[in-house]
Amino acid sequence: MPDSLRIHVADHPLIAHKLTTLRDVRTDSPTFRRLADELVALLAYEATRGIRVEQVAVTTPVAPAMGVKLADPRPIVVPILRAGLGMLDGMMRLLPTAEVGFLGMIRDEESLTVSTYADRVPQSLAGRQVFLLDPMLATGGTLVDAINLLLGRGATDVTAICLLAAPEGLDRLRRAFDDRDVDVTVVTAGLDERLNDKGYIVPGLGDAGDRLYGVVS
Ligand code: URA
Repeated sequence: MPDSLRIHVADHPLIAHKLTTLRDVRTDSPTFRRLADELVALLAYEATRGIRVEQVAVTTPVAPAMGVKLADPRPIVVPILRAGLGMLDGMMRLLPTAEVGFLGMIRDEESLTVSTYADRVPQSLAGRQVFLLDPMLATGGTLVDAINLLLGRGATDVTAICLLAAPEGLDRLRRAFDDRDVDVTVVTAGLDERLNDKGYIVPGLGDAGDRLYGVVS
């Protein structure tokens, strides 16, 4: 069976430039939010390459022509709370007619295990393309659980958009989805070196939620 996990690491100087400022410890939350938003819009361009469209007729001021529009059922965008929320606006600018669901997942900092505390995703995703937003693909635990939930509800394909990924997280996704008859893609702005013993991406950018929204104790 062919590999069913596709990984796309964006290779573009503008993305690298924005990512570098995002990493900088001196970048404040308002600037971080703006840069995350801009980066997602650039990544969304790549992530939506396989979006389903259907042919439509259009009349220009000069002549009739054929074009395309997004096919039904519309895609659904699912940010993983809380840090994924910082990616939603950038994504919706490109896909304004998409539906939005929400998944609240939290990682225990000691055990690194993941639990779901909010599930606002339709029970049936039959025939739907899903775009999952999670800035940091670290251990991969959250993303594997989230993707399994979406596939379990009938999603035809799932594309995860991440600002940064660690090799350990990608390996975990490969173990979970390669050799399964599913269609899963990861699009990321950068692939970093490794995880540290606290599960943070190195060099990474720190805690994405804290940097977006400030620390909530
Ligand atoms: N989550 C984050 O916010 N940052 C990391 O480096 C890893 C997981």
